[in-house]
Amino acid sequence: MHRTHTCGELRIEDIGTTVTLSGWVQKSRDLGGMTFIDVRDRYGITQLTFNSDDDETLRSRARELGREFVIKVTGTVIERSSKNAKIPTGEIEISVSNLEILNESKLPPFTIEDETDGGDDIRMKYRYLDIRRNPVKNSLLFRHKVTQEVRNYLSNLDFCEVETPYLIKSTPEGARDFIVPSRMNPGQFYALPQSPQTFKQLLMVGGMDKYFQIVKCFRDEDLRADRQPEFTQIDCEMSFVEQEDILNIFEGMTRHLLKNIHGIEINQFPRMTFDEAMRTYGNDKPDIRFGMKFGELNAVAQHKDFAIFNNAELVVGIAVPAAATYTRKQIDELVEWVKRPQVGASGMVYAKYESDGTLKSSVDKFYDQADLLKWAEATSANPGDLILVLSGPANKTRAQLSALRMELGNRLGLRKPDEFAPLWVVDFPLLEWDEDTSRYHAMHHPFTSPKLEDMSLLDSDPGKVRANAYDLVLNGNEIGGGSIRIHDKDMQALMFKHLGFTPEQAQDQFGFLMNAFQYGAPPHGGLAFGLDRLTAILGGQETIRDFIAFPKNNSGRDVMIDAPATIAVEQLDELSISLKPVSK
Ligand code: AMO
Repeated sequence: MHRTHTCGELRIEDIGTTVTLSGWVQKSRDLGGMTFIDVRDRYGITQLTFNSDDDETLRSRARELGREFVIKVTGTVIERSSKNAKIPTGEIEISVSNLEILNESKLPPFTIEDETDGGDDIRMKYRYLDIRRNPVKNSLLFRHKVTQEVRNYLSNLDFCEVETPYLIKSTPEGARDFIVPSRMNPGQFYALPQSPQTFKQLLMVGGMDKYFQIVKCFRDEDLRADRQPEFTQIDCEMSFVEQEDILNIFEGMTRHLLKNIHGIEINQFPRMTFDEAMRTYGNDKPDIRFGMKFGELNAVAQHKDFAIFNNAELVVGIAVPAAATYTRKQIDELVEWVKRPQVGASGMVYAKYESDGTLKSSVDKFYDQADLLKWAEATSANPGDLILVLSGPANKTRAQLSALRMELGNRLGLRKPDEFAPLWVVDFPLLEWDEDTSRYHAMHHPFTSPKLEDMSLLDSDPGKVRANAYDLVLNGNEIGGGSIRIHDKDMQALMFKHLGFTPEQAQDQFGFLMNAFQYGAPPHGGLAFGLDRLTAILGGQETIRDFIAFPKNNSGRDVMIDAPATIAVEQLDELSISLKPVSK
């Protein structure tokens, strides 16, 4: 038997018991007469003692133990003379009578402590060692808890978990596909799913009624802190539902998670249309934990001789709380920040709303107190605030001010990780103009239904057509999104036409779905949550990598197993693939 207890289990009540523990050597201290070893497993740490009364071979073997050696010990639980209140086992220790080394360990390349000395790269390379550390281990345990709560919630509501295939044909969802060659079908390729979208719709045609799946999805896109090339969705679909039903069920799921994981009760999630989100936060996933809402200033800033504002499509500002005291240097730094290429503003105007009620701006030459007071009113500024104003083309300017708002939210500590502010964003546009290809693309995906009342605009003003599509935003992150689907084959064909597909292309790529729609497809809809994002945010963080056991780095590489990698010529031949030389 390897153990009677775990290393996190023994307490003062266990004194006198003979126990066997197995685990890793966290550290050892040799204090002349006594040798102390901390032994660690997933559940905790227990102190082992060897003293001068013990036989000398046992003590000398204890002294030889290196860090991360795997050991098995048997001994008696005794009370500690100097207790450690910081750990649950801190009142006891084990007086060891038998020590067995189960495996030796090389000295690890970084310390296995909560605060390690290892940098990101080395910890990725030795991820299995990093997982021994509490912060990583706890993130994985936390993810398990979230997943389990999700399964409980959905199973209780009669959702059935169904697995869909990974080797499929490409589904257009905006990103590039990862491609898998087929040995048995030379020159043909599978694609790994960007999501199980079409399959879950086919399950609805199949009468499954309520489906979910905790499923890997694959997208070959540029990586960021909240994106991985393979990530996990909680993918869901329901039949005979309207948008309101879906919002209720999944608001319920999110509420269930917040309650069961954090003990937080949030009654009703606020809702905002896409248009309102863009106008008031410049962003379709606003962080509503803090204010600084946009105030549009065209009406109160375009009546004087200030050409920059007069020529702009949009003049828009925010009031930074209690920042009127910023020095010239601090403001200049913010101006430089918005001018960085990543943000791209050409400049920024400011007005300090002094605590005595007077306003002092960088454009005093053009605007008097009465004008500036109107700016203050439009941005809901209070005395003591700093008003920051950007101008230019509407969409770009909104995006720039949104970036500034988020940056200030971070700098001012307004984005508190233990505060949760969910928000539904609804009424997304159906189509989105793509500058590169000069045509409309589906903003969500081509299976999303348009709002019937907007259908008449489909020919005249396609960009104005709204969809039955919604996103769930949590603390400024899109954690989920979905839509009511098209379930009528003619409507689906019309949609493909508007997306620039010829009937042949539509049949070739999506014939299987359109054919299925001929056999009594029920009205249906659904959504998918990003499990990695959801877990990270519930865990008070935004970097999803910490919540994935074996993540990829920013270049999409697994540095531990060294993938992707070249394959043998024989393998390529078998797949009928010949490679062009790669220029490095
Ligand atoms: P969507 O593309 O919005 O919708 O994806 C759903 C959710 O998945 C998460 N997500 C990601 N997480 C980590 N890394 C990525 N690269 C990544 N990409 C997306 C986000 C997002 O909200 N089939 C539709 C859903 C539906 O209509 O039912 C879909 O995939 O949190």
